[in-house]
Amino acid sequence: VTSRECVWINGELRDVDDARVSAFDHGLLVGDGVFETLRVYDGRPFAWTRHLVRLEHSADGLGLTVPERAVVRAAAAEVLEANALREARLRITVTGGVQPLGSERRATTPTLIVAASEVRSVAETIAVVVVPWARNERGATAGLKTVSYAENVRALAHAQARGAGEAVFPNTRDELCEATGSNVFVVDDGVVRTPPASSGCLLGVTRALVLELCAELGLPHEEATMPVEVLARADEVFLTSTVREVQAVTHVDGRALAHARGRVTRCLAEAFSALVARDLDP
Ligand SMILES: Cc1ncc(COP(=O)(O)O)c(C=O)c1O
Repeated sequence: VTSRECVWINGELRDVDDARVSAFDHGLLVGDGVFETLRVYDGRPFAWTRHLVRLEHSADGLGLTVPERAVVRAAAAEVLEANALREARLRITVTGGVQPLGSERRATTPTLIVAASEVRSVAETIAVVVVPWARNERGATAGLKTVSYAENVRALAHAQARGAGEAVFPNTRDELCEATGSNVFVVDDGVVRTPPASSGCLLGVTRALVLELCAELGLPHEEATMPVEVLARADEVFLTSTVREVQAVTHVDGRALAHARGRVTRCLAEAFSALVARDLDP
C-alpha cells in the first residue's frame, strides 16, 4: 500500500483506488449511517473519547452497532501512519452495511470506513447566510450525526451562491438551531449563548468544550432558546466545529456585524488553542 492515499475499509487498509463499498450498502442507498470527524494535531487525534461516545450515541439513535472502540482507534492509527498525516481531519463512517434496496434494515455486519485528509489552516472569520429551510427538531435523526447530509449540501451551496461560507438553519419554530457543519454562538452584553439540544442541533464536541472554557474563564454563558433573528442584533457571533475551532462571524445575510471578532470571540478562540496544546483528550 502506497503512502498518502490509504483508507481503512472493513478490516483492512487499502489504496483509495482499490477501496470499495458494495452497491447495496445502506449508507449509500438511503443514508443509513453515522460518522465522526476528528481533528488531528501533529499526528494525534483530538478529543477521542468524546467523539467515540458521540459515535455510539448516534449509532444507538439509528439502532446501528458500532465496532469496538479499540478497533476504531487502531484503524485510525493505521490510516494516519500510512498517509503520514500530521495536520488532518479524520473521518470515521459506520453504515448499515449490505442491505436490500429499500429502507428496511436486516441484521448484518456494519461497514466501517476510516479515512483522513490534510487540513490547511482555516480562516479566522466567515460570513453566514440564514437558509429558507428548517432543521426538524422533532425528526427521528435530530441531534444525531448521520451520513444523511444532503440538506446540508443544499444549504451550503445556497450560502456559497450568496458569497457566504456557512449556512445557518432555523428550526421549525424559527429558533436559532445550527449551521451545516458547525454550532452557532451569540454574545450579547458579555453573555455567551448557544441553542440547547431541544433546538434540534447536534451537540458539538467543540460546543461543549467552549461552554466548559466559558465556565473556566468566568464568562457568563447559557444554553438558550433564541429566535433566529438574534443573529442580526447580537454583539458578536461565532461558529464552533472540530475543523473550524472557534471562528468569528463577520456578516449575516450580507450585513456586517458591528463587533465582528470581538473580545469574547477572540478570548475563546485563544483559550481553545491553549486547551488543544495542553490536553489531547479533554
Ligand atoms: C450539523 C453539525 N452541527 C455541528 C457540528 C459541530 O460539531 P463538532 O464540534 O463536534 O465538530 C457538526 C460537525 O462538524 C455538524 O455536522
